[in-house]
Amino acid sequence: MAAVRMLRTWSKNARLICVCSFQTRGIVRVLKPKCVYFFGYPSFNYSHPHHLALHGQIVQFKLSDIGEGIREVTVKEWYVKEGDTVSQFDSICEVQSDKASVTITSRYDGVIKKLYYNLDDIAYVGKPLVDIETEALKDSEEDVETPAVSHDEHTHQEIKGQKTLATPAVRRLAMENNIKLSEVVGSGKDGRILKEDILNYLEKQTGAILPPSPKDKTIPMPISKPPVFIGKDKTEPIKGFQKAMVKSMSAALKIPHFGYCDEVDLTELVKLREELKPIALARGIKLSFMPFFLKANITYKASHNIGIAMDTEQGLIVPNVKNVQICSVFEIATELNRLQKLGTAGQLSTTDLTGGTFTLSNIGSIGGTYAKPVILPPEVAIGALGSIKALPQFNQKGEVYPAQIMNVSWSADHRIIDGATMSSFSNLWKSYLENPSFMLLDLK
Ligand code: COA
Repeated sequence: MAAVRMLRTWSKNARLICVCSFQTRGIVRVLKPKCVYFFGYPSFNYSHPHHLALHGQIVQFKLSDIGEGIREVTVKEWYVKEGDTVSQFDSICEVQSDKASVTITSRYDGVIKKLYYNLDDIAYVGKPLVDIETEALKDSEEDVETPAVSHDEHTHQEIKGQKTLATPAVRRLAMENNIKLSEVVGSGKDGRILKEDILNYLEKQTGAILPPSPKDKTIPMPISKPPVFIGKDKTEPIKGFQKAMVKSMSAALKIPHFGYCDEVDLTELVKLREELKPIALARGIKLSFMPFFLKANITYKASHNIGIAMDTEQGLIVPNVKNVQICSVFEIATELNRLQKLGTAGQLSTTDLTGGTFTLSNIGSIGGTYAKPVILPPEVAIGALGSIKALPQFNQKGEVYPAQIMNVSWSADHRIIDGATMSSFSNLWKSYLENPSFMLLDLK
């Protein structure tokens, strides 16, 4: 579906259709979760790379229309620098709209002559992104001046092949010190490059002595002086996912929110998950509580595309698991694992981020007992889940037993959903989670 939608968007753009029709490689990349777009370029028909009418000229590439009404994007990562040689389909840069991350790829063989933006700048659809000197001119210059395979060219290949994980602050630190992220070994999770990795790299390169770590007992610590605060206030523009948050939460303010809270006894579910967790893990999937919370939902919508509020380094995002009503708990867990991986890498597609019909926010995985969740329009309800805590409860005989209790806080659009409807929904949802075997019986 995602590919069909994208192709439909693209079909407005004749020059992109001809790429899709004969370049299988282009289509395969489209089907991957992360969108890959090509640069648009001025009017000529693309039939074969060697028939390019603009050979040997500097071509100004503009950011082409990437659909979904996106007019501006934030430049998150450059995979090339000025002077780099690129081939067709090489990644040029990563941009992020308020809806998705997109990799922009080259349509030319040539040399990058100019980058129009710095990292974190806003790039506009229809405005130039890079200048590329096309192959013919580059070849003639190379004959005269440069060796066939330059060191830069080799380095560029490494950057393309391996995607580096690092926060914008770390990227900036690397850029300010002229360090290529591809040459730094990341010590963070999944090879993420941390600030320390850049400082260590710099130390090795320049021999610069960094301040001793407090852990290092062999180096005497300086006599303590009153701390001097040198921090400065910083004003940053609101962009990317945060911009989307401003827009949707301002729209949400117009909705009269109705709140409803309850406690759910998850004692049985906690036991059940302990049993199922190793089985799912043996199939390569992490089984948390979320797939059960998602499966227990019922709504009147034809498709139950349940959004999950996800805390990522780029900010709050809400991808959704599509058609939960026809998925098993394991299938939901598999999809959730995929969304979490892509979310962490900032690579969720527009399809993953749109079309939600209901949202669950598991703030309890971070902390907290109660919350007041805000509806994500055009949805009409949202639930926030608190932390699961072991608490004493009474059973039917009046005996105290240790129970696993979680609080749920619902917000509903009171123009559409009244208190009784919300309460019956919550009771049914709660009954499935308190008796997970009911889910086996009733839910598809
Ligand atoms: N109470 C106690 N423990 C919880 C919990 C809860 N409500 N929810 C999850 N956990 C546990 C999980 O079981 C897991 O433990 P395990 O290692 O034994 O399996 C651990 O916490 C980590 O779970 P996590 O990897 O976060 O998976 P998840 O499927 O439970 O949650 C997300 C996935 C995306 C929802 C979560 O990572 C996240 O981003 N939460 C924050 C949402 C947020 O910011 N909401 C506010 C929006 S304004």
